Amino acid sequence: MTDNIKVMITEDRIEERVRELGAQISRDYAGKTVHMICVLKGGVYFMTALSNRIDISVPVSMDFMSVSSYGAGTKSSGIVKIVKDLDEPLAGKDVLVVEDIIDSGRTLSYLLKLLRERKPASLRLCTLLDKPDRRVMKDVVVDYCGFEIEDKFVVGCGMDYDQKYRNLPYIGEITL
Ligand code: IMP
Ligand code: MG
Repeated sequence: MTDNIKVMITEDRIEERVRELGAQISRDYAGKTVHMICVLKGGVYFMTALSNRIDISVPVSMDFMSVSSYGAGTKSSGIVKIVKDLDEPLAGKDVLVVEDIIDSGRTLSYLLKLLRERKPASLRLCTLLDKPDRRVMKDVVVDYCGFEIEDKFVVGCGMDYDQKYRNLPYIGEITL
C-alpha cells in the first residue's frame, strides 16, 4: 500500500537552497577544514548533497554516528543510546553536525553536549529542516537551516515513515 504524499518542497527548491548553504559554509569555513558529522540514517542524504556544494578550497572530512532514543511511541525521550560512535576523535576540529530535521531537539541537545565534551575547536549545527514550533530543548541553536516548516510529518531527502520514502528527491507531507 502506498501512503498519500503531497509535495511540500520541490527538488529544484531544495537543490537551490543546498547550493546557498554550501556557499555560506564555504565562506564561513575559509582557511579551515569542515569536519562533517552525520547522524545516521536520515542525515546521510543531506550531508552528501551539501558536501558537494562546498567549495574545493575548503577541505571536507566526514564521520558518522548512529543513535537511538528511548521513548514511548514516536516521541523522542532525550535519553539517547549511541549505537555506532564516531571513528575519529574531535579534539581541535571544526565540527559541523548535519541533521535531516530537528523536532523537539531532545536528540540533538543530548548529542551536542556529548560532542562538546570531546573538545572540538568549534561545533556548529546544520539541519535541512526545522520545526521551531515543536522545540522543547531551547539550548539547541541551529547555525544553518535549509527550511523552517510547520508541524507536519514529512518524508523524503533522508526522512522516513516506518523506514520508507527516504529516497524521495523532494520533501513530501504524509496525509493520512
Ligand atoms: P527530536 O529529538 O524530537 O528533535 O527528533 C528528531 C528526529 O526525529 C529526527 O532526526 C528524525 O529522525 C525524527 N523526525 C522528527 N520529525 C520528523 C518528520 O516529520 N519526519 C521524519 N522524521 C522525523
Ligand atoms: Mg535524524
